[in-house]
Amino acid sequence: MRTVLILNGPNLSRLGSRQPDIYGTATLADLEKACAATAAELGLATEFRQTDDEAQLLGWVHEAADRRIPVVLNPAAFTHYSYALRDALAMRTAPLVEVHLSNPAAREAFRHTSVVAGVADGSITGFGAVSYQLALRAVAHLLALKADDG
Ligand code: DQA
Repeated sequence: MRTVLILNGPNLSRLGSRQPDIYGTATLADLEKACAATAAELGLATEFRQTDDEAQLLGWVHEAADRRIPVVLNPAAFTHYSYALRDALAMRTAPLVEVHLSNPAAREAFRHTSVVAGVADGSITGFGAVSYQLALRAVAHLLALKADDG
């Protein structure tokens, strides 16, 4: 069974109490559970991680590249300024879907730029916890396309 790495950036450990009007009331543990259930339906396994540390996140992205692991990534605030993260993601060897709970395009101007979007297969934003479920479906779709290619 193929494993999808679900990576979460800074402050996402605070979900549930963090600005619930924007991010909802589901905790990161709730998201992890929902992702595991959706992945099982899709015949995938998940490994779910969160860090506030850019170096840690880069290490996980390198690991995914080395092991050809598909990634669903919510880079959180790193989305908007981390060229180091973008460069790491550019080395990817498997599908990559960027995900956001909120819709950054509908928020403050600094959130309108994603420096990682250009190296992802696609981005899913604005559907709360459901964004993650949709991202897993997108990964399953991309893996199936690749399998069809032989
Ligand atoms: C976020 C959006 C980012 O702008 C913000 O910095 C986050 C969360 C989201 O999931 O909506 O931390 O990535």
